[in-house]
Amino acid sequence: MKETLRYLAGIAGPSGYGSSSTAEEVTEDCSRLAPSHLTAIITGATSGIGAETARVLAKRGVRVVIPARDLKGAAKVKEAIQKESPEAEIILLEIDLSSLTSVKRFCFEFLSLGLPLNILVNNGGIFSQHLEFSEDKIEMTFATNYLGHFLLTEMLLDKMVETAAKTGIQGRIVNVTSIIHGWVKRDAFSFNQLLNPKNYNGTRAYAQSKLANILHVKEMARQLKARNARVTINAVHPGIVKTGIIRAHKGFITGMTSGSGASTTCYVALSPQIEGVTGKYFVDCNESNCSSLANDESEAHKLLKHTRALIHKRLGQRAAQNVSSSFL
Ligand SMILES: NC(=O)c1ccc[n+]([C@@H]2O[C@H](COP(=O)([O-])OP(=O)(O)OC[C@H]3O[C@@H](n4cnc5c(N)ncnc54)[C@H](OP(=O)(O)O)[C@@H]3O)[C@@H](O)[C@H]2O)c1
Repeated sequence: MKETLRYLAGIAGPSGYGSSSTAEEVTEDCSRLAPSHLTAIITGATSGIGAETARVLAKRGVRVVIPARDLKGAAKVKEAIQKESPEAEIILLEIDLSSLTSVKRFCFEFLSLGLPLNILVNNGGIFSQHLEFSEDKIEMTFATNYLGHFLLTEMLLDKMVETAAKTGIQGRIVNVTSIIHGWVKRDAFSFNQLLNPKNYNGTRAYAQSKLANILHVKEMARQLKARNARVTINAVHPGIVKTGIIRAHKGFITGMTSGSGASTTCYVALSPQIEGVTGKYFVDCNESNCSSLANDESEAHKLLKHTRALIHKRLGQRAAQNVSSSFL
């Protein structure tokens, strides 16, 4: 209730920021992190919240890698960013998040560039009214929003841990989720159902994929701590923003601009205020509470185990050996 009022009134929370803060405002004090030495990968940066996140991080001096299935769209985003920030370094690489093979190919391509990696923003996403399957024969929303990002994170994690150890700068992973994760009922969340649902419902599939994004954060945060890695992972709800995804999702009230919609992502990716904070859920640039199911450690562990097993199966043993070995 307090949070809803704060959101509607745009009142700042304990961080000093709130629902009306823009991504530029929340990154103004990030110079201590020396953003000019940072490299970030931002998925889904060809439009909406991801494009604004890329613009603002690039404006702060971060080298931005944009993985995109639509390279022409990505080139337009690059052009717009460089028009505003001529020194911005933007690298475009191809990816289809719904395809495990494509994600794997992207990771090899990125790793072959020999660049460091400080920030990974798992932002890309879809909402689909109709049941569709990915080339791996997995329900498309789950494959795109969760599974592709899961594999991306696994394959890039060693690079992030290595970069953090070499530079002394903490690495940060940001999973863009949604407040809608809270709509998922415990008895409706089963791994096989997620892969191949019997009675497809677009809103339910979307909510489940976003719940999986948070469970991923919870389990990875635990594993990263156990590994003593200087890499944090947090989840953010960006607010309700009028973007491509929301236009497909009829019935929502729209409010924020993409400037405000990217603020929580940019805050969690860059702000010195949350140095060392991991495994948390952020809304309007402030730590918030996710659902009890999203906080369930055993559910998070189970999901991670099933996901790794599925990826092993789909990509085959030989390919799986290329995935960060300490995480398999
Ligand atoms: N907008 C909101 O109100 C809201 C609320 C809560 C959470 N979110 C979350 O915010 C994130 C960003 O969404 P948005 O609102 O900015 O939506 P958007 O404008 O539709 O952007 C989605 C991005 O994901 C990319 N994408 C989709 N499928 C892909 C695939 N298979 N491979 C590679 N890229 C793919 C899209 O690329 P293309 O250009 O190729 O389509 C696009 O860049 C999503 O995770 C969404 O769930 C949004």
